[in-house]
Amino acid sequence: MENLGLGMDLFGGIFKGKKVLVTGDSGFKGSWMCMWLKALGADVYGYSLPAKSPLDNFVTAGLSSKIHHQDGDIRDLESMKAFFHKIQPDIAFHLAAQALVIQSYVDPVDTFSSNLMGTVHFFECVKSTPSIRAAVNVSSDKCYDNKEWVWGYRENDPMGGKDPYSASKGCAELIFNSYLDSFFYTPGSCAVASGRAGNVIGGGDWAENRIIPDVFRAYMAGKPVQVRNPFSTRPWQFVLEPVFGYMKLAEKLWLSPTEFQGGWNFGPLDNHNYSVGQLLEKVQQRIPELQVESPELKVKPHEAQLLKLDISKAVSLLNWRPLLGFDQTVQFTVQGYLDEINPVSDLYEARLKQIETYSQNFLISSSNNTPA
Ligand SMILES: NC(=O)c1ccc[n+]([C@@H]2O[C@H](COP(=O)([O-])OP(=O)(O)OC[C@H]3O[C@@H](n4cnc5c(N)ncnc54)[C@H](O)[C@@H]3O)[C@@H](O)[C@H]2O)c1
Repeated sequence: MENLGLGMDLFGGIFKGKKVLVTGDSGFKGSWMCMWLKALGADVYGYSLPAKSPLDNFVTAGLSSKIHHQDGDIRDLESMKAFFHKIQPDIAFHLAAQALVIQSYVDPVDTFSSNLMGTVHFFECVKSTPSIRAAVNVSSDKCYDNKEWVWGYRENDPMGGKDPYSASKGCAELIFNSYLDSFFYTPGSCAVASGRAGNVIGGGDWAENRIIPDVFRAYMAGKPVQVRNPFSTRPWQFVLEPVFGYMKLAEKLWLSPTEFQGGWNFGPLDNHNYSVGQLLEKVQQRIPELQVESPELKVKPHEAQLLKLDISKAVSLLNWRPLLGFDQTVQFTVQGYLDEINPVSDLYEARLKQIETYSQNFLISSSNNTPA
């Protein structure tokens, strides 16, 4: 089951037999990406802080026995460099970050140091590891100066960010651009790009103050879920959608190093941005006993109400596009949590099953219609 027969040729087969290094492998997106890379035949190496909770996907899916993981801090350049130099990877992805808006108000210093210096250190490691031919930085839709207007942000819109997390992602993009223009612009140097995605959902995410983890924590406790901002619109995506984007980007960088450098948006289609309330209604259709409450908060930290990404560039140049509708996004997500809550015998296999379904029913069938 680990090497999904049908999926091996995906991404031009570039991951098969390659050493791929992923920072943030103990996190939500990183753990899914590592499982997918391994299923494609990659030799996967992870570097991150230890998983935060025994419920994290990395732990419950038993990822530490499937990939080569090293505990390490991205603020520690020497330790990170030593790992890169020891592994000599072919491809690197940077997903390690302090990834939570509310936590960035609690500890802005950790947020800025991990997200800014962590990005600097990632590119320093890439720069000093000649084996790496393609490197993808993972950022956020929150990197843009959000004017809360109805239009989607394009890759060349100005960076910004009011809260510390968003500002840290705007800064991380400036750091990425600086490294691109200063160190990775010559033919023969490593090809680098940065992927910006929105709110990602899927089984195995138990982070604090994210709506879907809050839903399943409340569900498990038999309590109503408390909702901060039911009217906030977010570009919800099942976790494999942006991960498909980051991996597609690596494929393009690998095959055509000078053409695809720069920033790329990976979000839902323009008419697929839904509110928190609509998301919860969809979850309730699958779990009718879930109760929802929306108390007024006395002090509300600033959080953007409307944020859309323009994905035209990735659709037309990378041949990436979101493959799931809203119903399917919620279906994959709810199933992913139920696999964990009503334990299946092997959660790693259950996660691979979702990767296989996404690959076969959506990715491969869509690429039969449009050339990959
Ligand atoms: N989940 C989302 O909805 C979402 C949306 C947009 C962007 N992103 C971005 O995607 C990336 C991955 O997000 P995620 O949801 O998987 O986050 P996560 O919190 O689940 O995982 C973060 C990972 O980074 C690691 N990490 C954090 N600080 C570190 C440090 N100082 N040194 C080493 N490792 C460190 C953690 O150990 C973990 O492995 C982040 O850059 C995040 O900002 C996430």
